[in-house]
Formats: sequence, C-alpha cells, structure tokens
Amino acid sequence: MAVLLCVQANPKPVEDSKSLTIAEEFLRAYRAKNPGDRIIERNVYREPVPFVDAEVIAGWEKLQRGESPSPREEEKIKAIDVLTEEFLSADKYVFVTPMWNLSVPPMMKAYLDTIVVAGKTFYYTEQGPVGLVKGKKALHIHARGGYYSQPPTAEMDFADRYIRALLSFLGIEDVSSVICEGHEYAPDRADAIFQAAVAEARRLAAEF
Ligand SMILES: Cc1cc2nc3c(=O)[nH]c(=O)nc-3n(C[C@H](O)[C@H](O)[C@H](O)COP(=O)(O)O)c2cc1C
Repeated sequence: MAVLLCVQANPKPVEDSKSLTIAEEFLRAYRAKNPGDRIIERNVYREPVPFVDAEVIAGWEKLQRGESPSPREEEKIKAIDVLTEEFLSADKYVFVTPMWNLSVPPMMKAYLDTIVVAGKTFYYTEQGPVGLVKGKKALHIHARGGYYSQPPTAEMDFADRYIRALLSFLGIEDVSSVICEGHEYAPDRADAIFQAAVAEARRLAAEF
C-alpha cells in the first residue's frame, strides 16, 4: 500500500478552480486504479501552515546551540516537524497550484519551507547540497491564464520550474506536470484546453 500526499494551494471553491478540478479528476482515477492506497489531501489555504518566522528561527538556533526553545517557539517548530514527517511518510506527491503573478501562491511557498529541512530532506556536503528524498515520484498540476510553455515567456515561469527545481533539490527526479494554460488568453479555446488537461491527468493517474 502506497501513501499519496496531495498538497493543494488554492483558496477557491473546487468548482471555480481549474487546477483543483483537474486534481480531483486525477485523484478519482488514481483511487479507482489503486483502491488500497492511502491518499492524504492537504489544502494549505484550509489548514494553516506555520510560517518560518522570527520565533521559529530563534528556536532552531537555540536547538543548534543545545538550548531549549521557549514554549511558543517549540510549539511552532513541532507544527513544522509534523508536516515534514508527513511529507517523508509519503511515497508519491501531487502538488496543485494556480499561477499567481508568475509564481505559486504564498501558502505553497510556506508549505515548501516546512519540507526543505537540512538533515531530514537534504544535507550539505563539500560538493554542495544532496537530496535525501529518494525513490519517490511527484506530479505538479498547474493552471495559468496565459502561455508560458515556450520562449520568450517560458523564462517567466517561476511556478512549474520552481516546483521542479525544489523537488530535484530534495532528490525527487521523477516529476511530471499537467499544465492547463492559455484559457484566459484564448477564451474561445478555454474548454478544449481544460478538457485536454483533464484527459492528461486521467492518463497519468493510470500509471502514477
Ligand atoms: C492573484 C492572481 C494572479 C494571477 N497571475 C497570473 C499570472 O501571472 N499569469 C497568468 O497566466 N495567469 C495569472 N492569473 C490567472 C490564473 O493563473 C488563472 O485564472 C488560473 O486558471 C488559476 O487557477 P485556478 O483556476 O485553479 O484557480 C492570476 C490570477 C490571480 C487570482
């Protein structure tokens, strides 16, 4: 039995969101194919993610010096640790984002800050950082109104490229993307673009 962790970062209702709807279709197809697997769904706009703030950093620094964090620092660090452990316990990951101002929504960034932890998900060597999350696979489901798949706007994609770079940093190299793009740039083709993304998500679910 595998564990699939699906992290969604979108405050919209599912029916108003292309990325969330595509993710729902992916999960439906995945469940049908893998009925014994455990699926954890975490929408980081519905369940708050602790920010790495001054108290967290102060607490981490105290731990490094062998000192005890304050109760408040400890509480925040524990909340982050829970997310790191949940991430490490999964075998497969699905990240679901809309493009917001060329990148991912800030709560996805906050979530990613909880899983990039030296000593747990990567470590430093003299040759540079090495990822510790090995043998796992990931999918990024992403919706954006304009086109960023081809040059010259491809350089402005700080969403899919960021997710992929970060996962690679952690050691996850088997990463696919389903990108629904251009539906606001070409509204007459919006439905066809969306349906193609749903079909691609269902296709990937069968082999994920
Ligand atoms: C705050 C905000 C910023 C956005 N920024 C971009 C952008 O930089 N590029 C783009 O192509 N679309 C942008 N959009 C459009 C969304 O990416 C598009 O509506 C997409 O379908 C959102 O995904 P969703 O339908 O899953 O919510 C933005 C939308 C919002 C609400």
